[in-house]
Amino acid sequence: MNDTIHRRWVLAAHPQGAPKASDFRLEEGPIPVPGPGEFLVRTILIGIEPRLRLMLNPTTETNKAMRPEGAASGLGKVIPSSVLGVVMASNDPDFTPGDLVDGLLGWQSHAVVARGGYNRKNNPAGIRTCDLDLGPPAAHLSVLGTPGLTAILALKHEGRLGPGETMVVTSAAGTVGSVAGQLGRLAGARVVGITGSDEKARYLADELGFDATINYRTAGDLAAAVRAACPNGVDYHFDNVGGAMAATINAQFNPGARHTRCGIVSKYNLSHTQWHQSDEFDGQFTVHDHVAEYTEAKAELARLLKAGDIKCVERIFDGIESAPAAFVGLMQGENIGKWLVRVSEDPQ
Ligand SMILES: NC(=O)c1ccc[n+]([C@@H]2O[C@H](COP(=O)([O-])OP(=O)(O)OC[C@H]3O[C@@H](n4cnc5c(N)ncnc54)[C@H](OP(=O)(O)O)[C@@H]3O)[C@@H](O)[C@H]2O)c1
Repeated sequence: MNDTIHRRWVLAAHPQGAPKASDFRLEEGPIPVPGPGEFLVRTILIGIEPRLRLMLNPTTETNKAMRPEGAASGLGKVIPSSVLGVVMASNDPDFTPGDLVDGLLGWQSHAVVARGGYNRKNNPAGIRTCDLDLGPPAAHLSVLGTPGLTAILALKHEGRLGPGETMVVTSAAGTVGSVAGQLGRLAGARVVGITGSDEKARYLADELGFDATINYRTAGDLAAAVRAACPNGVDYHFDNVGGAMAATINAQFNPGARHTRCGIVSKYNLSHTQWHQSDEFDGQFTVHDHVAEYTEAKAELARLLKAGDIKCVERIFDGIESAPAAFVGLMQGENIGKWLVRVSEDPQ
């Protein structure tokens, strides 16, 4: 960690299809100085997340709504991403040097945060302070962060699972999917995970206790595989993938079945024009619609994490240089659980 230079990854080119390392450029400069009402954050960890791909298309009138305020990524702009960091200097009475915070601060070693927008203390839609009593630093970007909150709140509001019901979860070995599946099992459901490799399928069955798994890349007839894994039909589909896979699963719905449209990762590499020909964005679950429930939901996730009732493996890549390669790998399906990039050491 070099604490005299500000290093940041910016968008060098809008990706065409799958992202590649050359779409990103590393820049260096002086560490920014917080002005009146602002504070400076040193990045500790960056969360690698698929939704970033959606933000790398050009911003147009038709896709503006998909970009969180301030996160639109134009050429030369810092790559937006969830970050865990520590406050280094502050001219904002709500933030004190030493506070651990997380927010959408991007692929950079330091960020000056201005009042308004993401600078609202404990506003979980923006920057928020992290309580290390709830769990270790990395967990605040995985189980205790947006991925875990998404899983628990979607299950609460849309899943409403009862014992003996069947839940199917896709991209099941990712952070959101693996937490959702474990919560489904805790609710007494039979949980079937669909994923992209045998290694991931083993992880779901052996480490997380999923009742059945399907490797969609080798399954051949996916509809037949879902029928075999769900002999009593499907009551709840936690959908991280969308597209043809979602339609195949929904075709096996029982009366009264629920469908959480959580993510559409099968389409994230499409251009913004192709994307908006899809109606799958309609009715999508949005975790930030449930901000008022974050404190309670986090406490519950922390309790389950400490008790060993839910787990999430994390892989941490060393150095801000590794961010593009990690993102490229994640979009190619290489991750199990949460991938993070370490930019500086945890505070002692
Ligand atoms: N609605 C909300 O409020 C909200 C909040 C947070 C996240 N999300 C969404 O939740 C989903 C999961 O997020 P996460 O952070 O846990 O990421 P993740 O599931 O780890 O995402 C990466 C995984 O996506 C899968 N994937 C990539 N391309 C695919 C394709 N073409 N077809 C099928 N699967 C593909 C791969 O797994 P396989 O090997 O299984 O293919 C890859 O390992 C994402 O779609 C994300 O955008 C939604």
